Amino acid sequence: MQVLVVGGAGYIGSHMVKQLSRAGHSVVVLDNLSTGFCELACYGELVVGDSADTALLESLFSKHKFDGVMHFAAASLVGESMQHPGKYYRNNVVNTLNLLEVMVRHEVNHFIFSSTAATFGEPVYVPIDEAHPQQPINPYGASKLMIERMLQDFYSAHGLSSVSLRYFNACGADPEGELGECHEPETHLIPLILQAASGRRESITVFGRDYATEDGTCIRDYIHIEDLCSAHALALEALVQGKKQGALAYNLGNGHGYSVQQMIDAVQRVVSEDGCSLIVEEGARRPGDPATLVADATLVKQELGWQPQYAMLDIIIRHAWAWEKRRNAWL
Ligand code: UFG
Repeated sequence: MQVLVVGGAGYIGSHMVKQLSRAGHSVVVLDNLSTGFCELACYGELVVGDSADTALLESLFSKHKFDGVMHFAAASLVGESMQHPGKYYRNNVVNTLNLLEVMVRHEVNHFIFSSTAATFGEPVYVPIDEAHPQQPINPYGASKLMIERMLQDFYSAHGLSSVSLRYFNACGADPEGELGECHEPETHLIPLILQAASGRRESITVFGRDYATEDGTCIRDYIHIEDLCSAHALALEALVQGKKQGALAYNLGNGHGYSVQQMIDAVQRVVSEDGCSLIVEEGARRPGDPATLVADATLVKQELGWQPQYAMLDIIIRHAWAWEKRRNAWL
């Protein structure tokens, strides 16, 4: 297949590009490098540019006959979205609309979309299945839900089939150690704990110990980046081979939650093998954090045949730790 990966120089996109390239597909990466890194775009052909640039999209779609598009480029910080909603509606909604319109003009009808658990808002029940109400509580989640909605209308009107994958907590790194998570600023739990262990930051702060969970810290469903990407590959194959059509959406997680304290304990176990340790500090709750977010991923398993290969927490952390050590050497 020939695939356009928008946002292919970012954390998730770069792993996806590697997986597609390794499977023998031809990949063009479009990334404006605002949060991506050209060092991560080591597979495929990198085009530096933006999905807001209609002329650039037109020339790319004229030059290549894409079988499908995977779209990872987005602003994705919940806190920032509360302060700068316009950035989220423009970057996520408007730019995705631009991309979809170009796809329609060029009759490219297969689209895989990075959606999020943030479209559900405060959980009414867990684990969260696809029937759970979608009531986002921040502009980030709202922007992604608007795109899911647009995709339904683009299917009805133009026959553009799509799969929206609603990620829970993406984590881990390329098992070969070549790629990994790089956010500036970093806000995600696992890289922050690992940075505290490697000495790149002084400590890790636990955001609240008074949640209604067993140890009082928040529970999340951590899914290895390789497993996340394999679901995208299956989704695109299903659309291209005509096994699926419509505007489909699946929740993507392991279906098992770990608390912040369990994550810190697991990291401590892994890094102690290298003689490292970390300082843990107590902090206030972070506004907008639900106590528990766990996916019910039954549907994606049933319908796409997805099976996670790296669900073991220690493996996730070992891969992320290998990357943190490599990245420290990089910096
Ligand atoms: N946490 C800490 N200390 C930190 C950082 C995080 O205790 O320094 C806690 C958070 O409070 C939360 C858990 O660790 O309970 C996980 O936090 P992350 O920031 O790693 O991930 P989130 O669950 O907040 O975010 C994820 C995705 C977002 C998405 C969101 C939707 O990474 O992109 O789920 O709810 F928007």
